Amino acid sequence: MTKICCIGAGYVGGPTMAMIALKAPDITVSVVDVNAARIAAWNSDDLPIYEPGLAEIVKECRGRNLLFTTEVKDAIREADFIFVSVNTPTKTYGIGAGRAADLRFVESVARSIAEVAESPKIIIEKSTMPVKTAETIKDILAASGRRLAHQVLSNPEFLAEGTAIADLLEPDRVLIGGEHTPGGDQAVAALVDIYARWVPRERIITTSLWSAELSKLVANAFLAQRISSINTISALCEATGADVDEVANAIGKDSRIGPKFLKSSVGFGGSCFQKDILNLVYLCEYYGLSEVAAYWNGVVHMNNWQKQRFAARIVRTLFNTVAGKKIAVLGFAFKKDTNDTRESPAICVVRDLLAERARVSVYDPQVPESQIRSEVRGPDGENELLTVVSNAYEAADGAHALVLVTEWDAFKHLDFERIYATMPKPAFIFDGRNILPLDELRQIGFRAEGIGKPAYSAPLLPHPSLKTVYSPAALTV
Ligand code: UDX
Ligand code: UDX
Repeated sequence: MTKICCIGAGYVGGPTMAMIALKAPDITVSVVDVNAARIAAWNSDDLPIYEPGLAEIVKECRGRNLLFTTEVKDAIREADFIFVSVNTPTKTYGIGAGRAADLRFVESVARSIAEVAESPKIIIEKSTMPVKTAETIKDILAASGRRLAHQVLSNPEFLAEGTAIADLLEPDRVLIGGEHTPGGDQAVAALVDIYARWVPRERIITTSLWSAELSKLVANAFLAQRISSINTISALCEATGADVDEVANAIGKDSRIGPKFLKSSVGFGGSCFQKDILNLVYLCEYYGLSEVAAYWNGVVHMNNWQKQRFAARIVRTLFNTVAGKKIAVLGFAFKKDTNDTRESPAICVVRDLLAERARVSVYDPQVPESQIRSEVRGPDGENELLTVVSNAYEAADGAHALVLVTEWDAFKHLDFERIYATMPKPAFIFDGRNILPLDELRQIGFRAEGIGKPAYSAPLLPHPSLKTVYSPAALTV
């Protein structure tokens, strides 16, 4: 029986392995993690990750051919395939700080495999890695002196959070990079066979190792670039009275441009986009391509500006002061249908409002209070102006403004007449996702503003003095 081990039971490793276990009942899949609490959660009814459809799949496969364990060494020893799905955060220290990927977890996994493996393994980079990481892994394995013919493949994951199960079930493509040697080709073919159980063969692309590694960074950079591009236009729309959704619709009808990823917003978040672009920037700098680095750095720079601009607009519109005013923030996750808050634009917006001494009340349907507090906490510790509540009405009660940051569907169906009645007047709404019907809200009496929408009041210019206090400084190349 074929055995798979996946190191890293996170947002990528967990759902991906659950799908393989579902589609390949003859393969045993062990998901291992150094974090015992996370493994315990995977083995409980309360999974550590909220992802629509995931719980049902885990329930069906767990105990059959899907195991969650902390026994890393046993799982490595027994496995034929080892997926590496550990986190690769941006370095916060030393050379490349703020841009390069921190590869210490990847290196430690490679060392564990080198130490424990007694037979040749197919090692698969599932985490997004800087180009040429496979070389490092191969080097460490070769240095172990055991002379086992391990193969290293790159098989980046393109799933998006919130739609992980649908993306895994019907991926646009599966990308597998390997060495063009007989051993490499064999390993690639073996991995293709696993995916081919449910993915049509023509959607499984095979490339060189480096092309696969680079393609993942480039895919994320292109996606993020579309968002920053439309967000630049949102600023222009606000200044001129055009509507960014109308513009996006008009340009998206051009089949060369296409309609997806043109939704203007308060800014993109998530663990991948910023990290991967900064990684790409670092790579370009390393190879002396400073113009290319500057081009991609602009995407991150624009995203930081968009987040700041949104908070500044709230302050400006509330008569240039929010000190002492209650502001309700609806949503804290970086997008709907996930409990993930990594790089969520909500973090910057909340911090900026707290820095202006607003009393901020946050509600998110899936993110626990402790997680919100730890994301917002600054160097001075807890901010007593922050409260976290358990429903939108409580957040809005007595608030001068309602600020929608995450596009949870439930927010579209709130009773806004009821909310309006509990707010001091004028009552403001800022829709950072353009999901609310601004005209209807204005009829109720709200002063409702969207991103890139004709303003209720006169067009506003960004508040020059407002800075994002704790976020990393804007990067210059
Ligand atoms: C991670 C990376 O952040 C992303 O760049 C990559 O594309 C996929 O892997 P994610 O699954 O969202 O994404 O990360 P996370 O939820 O943090 O999971 C990583 C897991 O690896 C954690 O549970 C951590 O405990 C575990 N880990 C980390 C190990 O088991 N061993 C280690 O040495 C390091
Ligand atoms: C992304 C990639 O889509 C995925 O292929 C990769 O594997 C990991 O990174 P993810 O970060 O989970 O996935 O979510 P995604 O749907 O791409 O959204 C990222 C951010 O962009 C979110 O904050 C989202 O709200 C924002 N976004 C997305 C917009 O602001 N506008 C859009 O049109 C689309």
